[in-house]
Amino acid sequence: MTISRVVVDLGERSYPVLIGHGAVSEINSVLPKTAKRAVIITQKNINFTVKPDVPCFTVLIGDGEQHKSLQTIEFVSQKFAEFGLTREDVVIGLGGGMVTDVAGYAAASWHRGTAVVHVATSLVGMVDAAIGGKTGVNTGAGKNLIGAFWQPRGVICDLDALSTLPANEMRCGLGEVAKYHFLSGDDLLKLEMPERVARCVKIKAEIVSSDEREGGRRALLNYGHTLGHALERSSDFSLAHGEAVAIGMVFAAHLARVMGRIDQARVDQHYKVIGEVYGLKVKPENKVDRAELIRLMRGDKKAVSGLTFVLDGRSGIETVKDVSEAQLHQAFDAMQLEEK
Ligand SMILES: NC(=O)c1ccc[n+]([C@@H]2O[C@H](COP(=O)([O-])OP(=O)(O)OC[C@H]3O[C@@H](n4cnc5c(N)ncnc54)[C@H](O)[C@@H]3O)[C@@H](O)[C@H]2O)c1
Repeated sequence: MTISRVVVDLGERSYPVLIGHGAVSEINSVLPKTAKRAVIITQKNINFTVKPDVPCFTVLIGDGEQHKSLQTIEFVSQKFAEFGLTREDVVIGLGGGMVTDVAGYAAASWHRGTAVVHVATSLVGMVDAAIGGKTGVNTGAGKNLIGAFWQPRGVICDLDALSTLPANEMRCGLGEVAKYHFLSGDDLLKLEMPERVARCVKIKAEIVSSDEREGGRRALLNYGHTLGHALERSSDFSLAHGEAVAIGMVFAAHLARVMGRIDQARVDQHYKVIGEVYGLKVKPENKVDRAELIRLMRGDKKAVSGLTFVLDGRSGIETVKDVSEAQLHQAFDAMQLEEK
């Protein structure tokens, strides 16, 4: 059993991420020494257990983005009170990104800050959501609008958990894994899956360490997300997040080519990694409404003014502002996206 250890280096808030088959057996090593009890926040369908050496109380929360809400925070806080959870104890988020976002925010708020440990059970959780300390919930006005930066004390990525993950959720995770191929210059393809996940964690950890609160560099993790989010929303979420991000990266490659930032070989590499290696869609199945997509992309969180994208280039991936609509249409044409 090989367990890799990656440290998210944030000074006194640094923490380890343990990755590998069977990594959950290391749970006690990441619990705070002061913890006398733990509340485990999870969901009914997560067939994965964690057994720390302290008395535990399990709270089940609903499944789906509609449950990533302040009502759920109130519900779990009520359970914290019933169990007598103190600030010296620990909250354990056991699940995908939805669970760890909720567990993290509940822990950040409980007694103005109680330790949290994440046991990620989805691929998205392992390579992205559980790492980096972004926590939060949705409101009627949009996703993740209420939240806090609250770093966990440790993260466990036990690849055994993935054996029960539904295929579409696996594809979502693969979309994010594909993103790391382009964020790093490394040949991730030569790595076996556990090492590849560990490498993705390392890339995310390094970016978070350099820009904890997304003042700049952390925005690179949104590669493929500008068109991705727009496609997700225009499909009424029938296109899953990771699948939409995968298509968004292909689009970003075409856009970078249109802007003279990369050559055709690099565009081809996007098709190879996303389409062939991970078997993800490289364009939407249906015709698209370009005007609607552009409108949605203008409303993207990163777009402080005009159309902003995260694009590949000679000096790597970077944020590019003020992309013109004409350039978007050229990229749509190059990708052969048919208009509705
Ligand atoms: N905080 C961050 O930095 C960050 C980053 C990326 C995404 N997110 C958030 O993460 C969420 C998406 O995460 P996700 O894709 O993991 O979705 P999710 O947590 O909703 O999980 C997807 C589904 O898979 C199920 N599941 C999870 N693990 C399972 C397992 N091992 N076996 C069987 N079923 C399992 C869940 O119950 C759920 O039904 C979104 O809310 C997103 O906003 C946060």
